[in-house]
Amino acid sequence: MNDPKNNSFRYDDRVVVVTGAGGGIGRAHALAFACQGAKVVVNDLGVSIEGGELDDNSRSADRIVAEIKKSGGEAIANYSAVESGHEIVEQAMDSYGRIDVLINNAGIVFPAPFSDMTFEQWRKMLGVHLDGSFNCAKAAWPHMQVNRYGRIIMTASPVMYGAEYLAHYSAAKAAMPGLANSLAAEGAPFNINSNTIVPTAMSRMISQGLPTTDLSKLSIDPGDIAQLAMWLCHEDSNESGGIYEVGGGFIAKMRYAHSKGVKLKAGAFSAQDIEDKKDDIDNFEAPFYPEDSAEMTRRTGLDLENLAAFGE
Ligand code: NAI
Repeated sequence: MNDPKNNSFRYDDRVVVVTGAGGGIGRAHALAFACQGAKVVVNDLGVSIEGGELDDNSRSADRIVAEIKKSGGEAIANYSAVESGHEIVEQAMDSYGRIDVLINNAGIVFPAPFSDMTFEQWRKMLGVHLDGSFNCAKAAWPHMQVNRYGRIIMTASPVMYGAEYLAHYSAAKAAMPGLANSLAAEGAPFNINSNTIVPTAMSRMISQGLPTTDLSKLSIDPGDIAQLAMWLCHEDSNESGGIYEVGGGFIAKMRYAHSKGVKLKAGAFSAQDIEDKKDDIDNFEAPFYPEDSAEMTRRTGLDLENLAAFGE
């Protein structure tokens, strides 16, 4: 476990909400922030990896709160589903009077071949990850705006690239940077920062989800994810709109890369012209990295920023 002794990133008097903190990565977030002085709302619905009911109905959030209190920290448990984010934020406000950091971490996963995937399965996955992150952020937002201070983390996954039997999970996770970066843009005037973490860490999701992997060879401590979150969410941090991959001690920033591309005459080219230029379209030797959508559209030759504002 990461050694907090060399950590100067203090969170005294800060209130941190961690969703899905009853185990795995969420537990690591909760313990790490509490260790650095934060008051932590430990949210967990207490469900199976697939989001079903557990036989053991003892509340995992209670166990983590007890763990935090045993080491001298401060925390309260919350048992709401993230889909009801307002209940979680209400509890933070009732108990501690503010919310400074929101870590959207709760998650479920279950495989389903696309040919068999039902709309209910699709909605269940989007409900936890996407609606849950939206509803928690939406409930926290007005308080953060009033305080002119807030830090939000969305949790994506390496599976955001797409993966067999995980169309629902991949789609939900790929949506996280879009949500986080939009909040980063709208939050900037209010000192609200919003970033995405793409984690790999030991948890039941990995130990039960990757049965063929020799887990003893993997050094993927969930504490690594928590340290990145603490760095990103600190009051001195200016990081916002970033996507960070972390796992096994490796940390990297991710961004969208565009190939060399080709400029054809708008409204006058054919599929054959595309075929003729496919080498340039595929050429990533000198990638272009747009910082935002405006920069991206400028490159196409469209200057959307100078068009009339929407609705005018
Ligand atoms: P985990 O299964 O150990 O923990 C997830 C927690 O979320 C559980 O305690 C569960 O009860 C809770 N939860 C599920 N649905 C909930 C809901 N509707 N409301 C409130 N709580 C709910 O999984 P792990 O690995 O700790 O995952 C944490 C996050 O990291 C998830 O979003 C997951 O998708 C993501 N992730 C994890 C990876 C890994 O390597 N462990 C890889 C990529 C992404």
